[in-house]
Amino acid sequence: TGTIPDMLSPEFAADPYSAYAVFREQAPLFYHEAMQSYVVSRYTDVERVFKDSAFTTANYDWQLEPVHGKTIVQLSGREHSVRRALVAPAFRGSELQEKFLPIIERNSADLIDGFRSTGSADLVAQFATRFPVGVIVDMLGLDKADQPKFQKWYTSIIAFLGNLSGDEQVTASGLQTKAEFAEYMLPVVQARRSALGDDLLSTLVTAEIDGETMSDEDVKSFCSLLLAAGGETTDKAVASMFALLLQHPEQLAAVREDRGLISAAFAETLRLRPPVHMIMREPAEEVEIAGGVIPAGKTVTALIGSANRDPERYKDPDSFNIFRDDLNTTSAFSAAADHLAFALGRHFCVGALLAKTEIEVATNQLLDALPDLKLADGFVPVEKGVFTRGPASLQVEFTPA
Ligand code: HEM
Repeated sequence: TGTIPDMLSPEFAADPYSAYAVFREQAPLFYHEAMQSYVVSRYTDVERVFKDSAFTTANYDWQLEPVHGKTIVQLSGREHSVRRALVAPAFRGSELQEKFLPIIERNSADLIDGFRSTGSADLVAQFATRFPVGVIVDMLGLDKADQPKFQKWYTSIIAFLGNLSGDEQVTASGLQTKAEFAEYMLPVVQARRSALGDDLLSTLVTAEIDGETMSDEDVKSFCSLLLAAGGETTDKAVASMFALLLQHPEQLAAVREDRGLISAAFAETLRLRPPVHMIMREPAEEVEIAGGVIPAGKTVTALIGSANRDPERYKDPDSFNIFRDDLNTTSAFSAAADHLAFALGRHFCVGALLAKTEIEVATNQLLDALPDLKLADGFVPVEKGVFTRGPASLQVEFTPA
């Protein structure tokens, strides 16, 4: 890859953003030998990879199948739209509000109760990494006592997906997780079929569209996807948003004052620090893009983290500004959202509204419970990860309540 920064290097892991700037300016399309993938980095090109039907997710198999089994992320065409329609209603307006809002509120409150009397906390370890996975476990109606297991499994799945350099131990752990998860989940799915409840797992086992239903195996794989897609991402989003707000006290004060600004803070966080930095696609036929050509069947990596900071698209792209006027901050979850953190097009994040609801509940509760919340003295958050990315820890202080 010559003079352009190497995406597998420690320098890239420490600061991908300055590498992205070099890509956008000097190599808007390049081939990474070791990753066996073309890479695009400009906003317009990343957006096109998501929206243009020339790019499909077919080859996702090599990456997702080994840990999840078959899920909607790998499917395309009618097979995808039918499967997606089976699950989408659970994540939309009324069902989300009525059934799941109380779950979200309880999970957030319980975690805050765990540390509010102590005066200090690590918001990553004690809140962010536990909150979204707790919500999914409760939404599915799974055994809350097993939450640590789910947490371990999704961490291992995400590590497998982000294993760009092919570390053997990480690969082995991901494959092991798939087996352990299936062994745990298949009997639970079977049992639920004969004892339906008011939970998402019951919805999944009974859902039917055009005469199609999901097999036990399908349901198991979908739950695996939900844990990873909904756990790791929202976890990073909460942590990044609080890191940014705590580093910009005047914007934190504005959000504290006017909670209607939470949605702007969330959208701006997802633009500047997207939890998912890259997504792979594959063109069925040769495609011209970014001044070059991607041959049929080759993988292309679309750099969300770079597109979201393209100066052609955003003014002062590296600064955190919840008041910026070039980002639609109110509809961060709609298909018209104008950052790319949830992707776009057919695979646009089905959980975007759930994520937004989780962030709103958590932010309101944290600000209410901890009126003088601030970063611990001298603490500077450090980000980790190249596929998914967020603060490794977030040490905060507050008056014990
Ligand atoms: C898809 C990001 C929260 C479930 C996606 C995709 C992205 C994304 C980038 C596209 C994947 C692709 O095109 O290959 C995020 C971010 C989140 C978040 C940044 C939090 C801030 C959630 C939550 C759930 C969820 C809470 C559910 C519990 C899904 C599912 C898909 C998906 C099922 C696959 C949709 C499809 O293939 O049609 N997400 N996600 N996500 N997300 Fe999310």
